[in-house]
Amino acid sequence: MSGRIPREFIDELLVRVDIVDLIDSHVPLKKTGANYVARCPFHTEKSPSFSVNRNKQFFHCFGCGASGNAISFLMDFSHLDFIEAVEDLAGFVGVDVPRESVAHQSLPKKEDLSGLYGLMERVAAFYIEQLRVNPKAVDYLKVRGVKAAVARDFMLGYAPDKWTALAEKFSQKLLIDAGLVVVKDDGQVYDRFRGRIMFPIRDKRARIIGFGGRVLDDSLPKYLNSPETSLFHKGKEVYGLYELLEKNSKPQRILIVEGYMDVIALAQYGINYAVAALGTATSQAHLDLLFRFSSELVFCFDGDRAGREAAWRVMESAFSSLKDGRSCRIMLLPQSHDPDSLIRDEGLDKFVRRVQTAQALSDYFFEQVSGELNLSEMEGRAQLIGKAKPYLEKLPEGVFKEMMHARLTELSGMRTLSILDSAVTVTLNPKGQSQQALNRLSSARVAIALLLQNPRLADNIEQKDIDWSGLEFRGIELFKSVLQVILEKKSVNTAVLIEYYRNTAEEKSVKALALLDLNVSEDKMEDVFSGALDSLLKQGIEAGILKLQAKAQSNGLDSQEQAMLVKMLANK
Ligand code: UTP
Ligand code: MN
Repeated sequence: MSGRIPREFIDELLVRVDIVDLIDSHVPLKKTGANYVARCPFHTEKSPSFSVNRNKQFFHCFGCGASGNAISFLMDFSHLDFIEAVEDLAGFVGVDVPRESVAHQSLPKKEDLSGLYGLMERVAAFYIEQLRVNPKAVDYLKVRGVKAAVARDFMLGYAPDKWTALAEKFSQKLLIDAGLVVVKDDGQVYDRFRGRIMFPIRDKRARIIGFGGRVLDDSLPKYLNSPETSLFHKGKEVYGLYELLEKNSKPQRILIVEGYMDVIALAQYGINYAVAALGTATSQAHLDLLFRFSSELVFCFDGDRAGREAAWRVMESAFSSLKDGRSCRIMLLPQSHDPDSLIRDEGLDKFVRRVQTAQALSDYFFEQVSGELNLSEMEGRAQLIGKAKPYLEKLPEGVFKEMMHARLTELSGMRTLSILDSAVTVTLNPKGQSQQALNRLSSARVAIALLLQNPRLADNIEQKDIDWSGLEFRGIELFKSVLQVILEKKSVNTAVLIEYYRNTAEEKSVKALALLDLNVSEDKMEDVFSGALDSLLKQGIEAGILKLQAKAQSNGLDSQEQAMLVKMLANK
């Protein structure tokens, strides 16, 4: 694999690009006051609540809450992953993305991949051509009811029943790297796919990254898939996503089925929103990928035991992806049917109704966990809590999590949430917090927010030469962390700071504070910050002293702590 993109490059990029220009090139913006506004591209609205701030290099929608820097915008707007978004942004600015060199490079370097993609393209064309001239294969598709238009959309082909059809035509080295041939002990190669209907697997940028192949009869294995290669990672790709996005780039929902032929049959009936995991269990990476395109995923399983077990396994990955606004449903099919056979059997309308009325994951979950338990007995209710709790813990913080807890409370008949609380929820504002503590919280918020929004203020702190040891206030860790990040970076603005906290526990607070509108005019900025900082330090010292004094009375202080207390009392 190619090396990592250096962090400094990403920072540099976020300082060089102007988010207003970038977004304006995708969504035309209008200037109002200090901000640029538009109707939000991430939800449907009549009046504009999407706003872009040039100073902070940050966008935010007051309607749906979407927010972030230039990279986040490209990820959300163009459905890109992080690396793709950085590449796109670099393209916009007009620079190349550098890569750190990797010492042990086992896989082909980046330049080599274009050769592999080219090969895959030519092999797919070869398979399509072979299908045209092979009546047995054409008949098979006819018998299975696959129409020409769908075969074309999905680029279906046929691998002839020969050992060296590919090996005779294409570069052996590329065929090996692409996983299209098998290498024998003696170094000779033979075609991996022989006598099979071929299903090219495309990534969302239309590049063929692998193949699936089905036999024409009952021989085994029924399906063969490309092995893992530098192009193809089963755990991260789904079959049919490219074809789905071609028809609809923002589907209301995505249906996840098991088989290649299910995706094809559904497409033929006009259901263009189905994809299949490639013979593997649905992974976290699959869910993250699919949630980028739709907020509702419907998982389709056989109604048999294996299907129910698979549904349960999906739950494990799904729970940690279920941020507010996203939902999953479970659709169990009647015995001995798959989507392909069912839609042919009962037609489009009935099938669509099944999709629309699929059971919400929350209902399915509680039905399953409470299934064999007797909830009229205390033992049963206790078991329910034990079974459900580990799953609820995985849910991201939010309204959905709260509601799931409420449901568990109700089902288990527990009046208070105390046990659940201590075990699973993180309480953000512990009760009994004094007014003074809340004030502390707010001056810390002001200071952190100002620092995030105006990183140059860090210079003021450096000049003050502060001794941080022993200080106690809510947010001190975050304050120190932001300060450190600013001082370490060569180039920094709000967007760079937001980038630094991407996918960390602090991400949410950092974004919220970066947005906080403090209404401080430019000429008052340093004074206000200085004031907030002073009062913060004063409170920090007082709280630190109280803590040490309390400890002195209970456990006693060691010599270091004693020295610190003396110093803090002197500084007060
Ligand atoms: P199924 O056996 O349910 O096949 O496997 P299917 O899709 O209904 O196929 P048809 O209708 O008989 O043609 C479901 C999926 O599991 C993977 C494939 O991705 C397949 O589409 N699979 C199955 C394999 O990878 N290898 C196999 O040998 C069988
Ligand atoms: Mn089938």
